[in-house]
Amino acid sequence: MRRDQLEHLIRAAGQVLDADTVIVIGSQAFLASVPAGLPPEAVRSIEADILPIDDPDETKADLIDGLLGEASTFQETHGIYAQGVGQRTARLPEGWQDRLVALRNENTGGVTGKCLEPHDVLRIQPRGMTHRIFRGLDVPTCGETMVGLHRLRSFEECVSEVLSDGVPGDFVEAGAWRGGTAILMRAVLKTYHVTDRKVFVADSFRGLPPPKRRYGADRGDRLWADTRLAVSLAEVRANFARYGLLDDQVAFIEGWFSESLKAAPIERLAVLRLDADMYESTLDALEVLYPKVSPGGFVIVDDYGALEAGRRAGHD
Ligand SMILES: C[S@@+](CC[C@H](N)C(=O)[O-])C[C@H]1O[C@@H](n2cnc3c(N)ncnc32)[C@H](O)[C@@H]1O
Repeated sequence: MRRDQLEHLIRAAGQVLDADTVIVIGSQAFLASVPAGLPPEAVRSIEADILPIDDPDETKADLIDGLLGEASTFQETHGIYAQGVGQRTARLPEGWQDRLVALRNENTGGVTGKCLEPHDVLRIQPRGMTHRIFRGLDVPTCGETMVGLHRLRSFEECVSEVLSDGVPGDFVEAGAWRGGTAILMRAVLKTYHVTDRKVFVADSFRGLPPPKRRYGADRGDRLWADTRLAVSLAEVRANFARYGLLDDQVAFIEGWFSESLKAAPIERLAVLRLDADMYESTLDALEVLYPKVSPGGFVIVDDYGALEAGRRAGHD
């Protein structure tokens, strides 16, 4: 990573956390102390460790992982990524805060990256395996789903469990993107030779709505402008077809959740999966669909552990 790339990452991390200061630990922190630059072998890494300030439950570190982390849209666009680090991830040398080296210029956009002093970098002691992939926080963008393997496994267990427990109802994914997770649901039904349940795939099929003023949790959300999140119905249908899983057990509900779900022919649900990234979208879907979930069924809010908007909608 070059110094200007680290500066860009500091700026992005500050924006994601709505903070004017972030801490950079790990080897990329060297870049702040060596303005002339490092030798080529030292700048090969494309990852920098960001330690958010005041993050006792590590939710801010998770946010960094989700939005700027490995396989994120940010990495896809800029070729570099951040790993959110929590206080539990690394033990830092005594007095490290007093030796931080500030990196701030027009490239960091008003955010100060406080970088660990080089000797302190060498004295960091990891505290064990806390990588986000093992915590189900990765968001890969190269496949049919941006849900990482850990979450997919747990989701598959939910679908299998309601089948083996005989929990009545169909399955919904609200927020399908390329369709991968809904394709998995249909595949599980096929595996167990279930022919009397449906998979409903609900999406605008044109991305997210712009945030509305009345929903504070969505304030400043820019995902509506991200055209990569707009995947057409034709493309999602083609993805189902490629796996031989496009049939009359799959139904598509096209449109904004605020309008489309009320009219959808959904009576009872065994699994409700919500993955819509925004407070408004998550709440709209929950309000209509939650009352239809059978006792013993599952409600999964994918964003609950990653995005404040998802967590708040789940609680509200
Ligand atoms: C994070 S992606 C879903 C990822 C997907 N579950 C997967 O397996 O990769 C969010 C999706 O929610 C959809 N979406 C968000 N808000 C919506 C709304 N209010 N109405 C309809 N679709 C919405 C977007 O179009 C997008 O496809």
